[in-house]
Amino acid sequence: MDLAVFSGSPFFAVPQHVGGPVVEPEVREGFHRLADAAFGRNQLTNSGPLAARLEEEVAVRHRVGDAVLVANATLAQMLLLRALGLTSGEALLSANTFVSTAHACEWLGMRPIFCDIDPDTLNLSPVDCERKITAAARAIIPTHVFGVMADMPVLADMAARRGVRLLADAAHAFDCDFGGVPPGGFGAPEFISFHATKYFSSLEGGVILTGDPALADELRILRNFGFSRPFDACGCGINAKMSEISAAFALASLPFLDRRRRGLGEVHAAYRRELADVPGLRIHPVDRLGRNNYRYFALFVDESAFGLSRDGLLEALRLENVLARHYFYPGCHRMGYYQDRLPRPELPATDRALAAIMALPTSFVGLEPVAAAKSIAGLIQAIHERAGEVGLALRKTK
Ligand SMILES: Cc1ncc(COP(=O)(O)O)c(C=O)c1O
Repeated sequence: MDLAVFSGSPFFAVPQHVGGPVVEPEVREGFHRLADAAFGRNQLTNSGPLAARLEEEVAVRHRVGDAVLVANATLAQMLLLRALGLTSGEALLSANTFVSTAHACEWLGMRPIFCDIDPDTLNLSPVDCERKITAAARAIIPTHVFGVMADMPVLADMAARRGVRLLADAAHAFDCDFGGVPPGGFGAPEFISFHATKYFSSLEGGVILTGDPALADELRILRNFGFSRPFDACGCGINAKMSEISAAFALASLPFLDRRRRGLGEVHAAYRRELADVPGLRIHPVDRLGRNNYRYFALFVDESAFGLSRDGLLEALRLENVLARHYFYPGCHRMGYYQDRLPRPELPATDRALAAIMALPTSFVGLEPVAAAKSIAGLIQAIHERAGEVGLALRKTK
């Protein structure tokens, strides 16, 4: 297999991104039908029938009392913190998350305390979390990285013992579960992102899942400027409503989700099969502890056995138009905003994982997915086989 680092011609004609939107032809057709109906009714937002239907469907799918739709998951977290009165003190979270998990705390006046991860799951380590709980702690906020849910029963028990609230960033975890229990089922509210890169999307959007009807009522008031009845804002709300057009897009994909998950599962299986014998690669398992939606495929690169560093492999793949990513590199604790404000925590497991990890695309533009995954695995194998030369060629192009 010729490599772009030598030939200058990428394997793929167009860039293949991690998290490239998945939009099947049937979803486009369904979306047009539902959006046309919304235009016909002339109701484009403000708690329309499509948003109401989506709330019901998402709640049923996750076997939870209430699904509160919002404009995105960042606002979901902010509304939750506000509704739970979490506007001061410390929030314990992993640094291996999207920066919005920490930013939402900051916006609400909470100080994020970054904890280390469990190297097997890449999620908040319950041991480090417990160690870092002080009298100022008010909340524990794990992130279910790549849809692998954190150990919610253990965290719920810890939160109860230590008198703090538990809520979870389930941005990646639509259709996932932990031991058969989906997000929202552990007595703690959880929020999911419906961003266009996610497994289930409303273009921009999100949802809060909760079994607490009073909390759901409060969230519905807060997302609509605090209005509890016409002309009377009883709460200091914000605008976090989901439009009917966003809800139409999400509803259109619901009937095809099982097929989508099967297809992503086949991509995972192809990567696992094809990469199993490449020295220096360890695949991150996503379905050992529960159901996964297979949106993310991640592996760890051991430079000495693979022959090239993780960053070298990322660069060699980029030249092939494979835009693999080092998720959530460099970790929130190493991002400028937090470095300037917080003492840098020691997070050895996080630093080790983020120095080695990379996520590969699971959806592809104009290509048969399993064949595309096999091609990417073939490129990785070829890069390994010529790792020394690849390294030299990359250094020359710098
Ligand atoms: C783990 C995690 N949390 C939160 C978010 C924020 O979601 P949103 O873009 O819907 O605000 C994202 C991603 O985009 C994410 O990956």
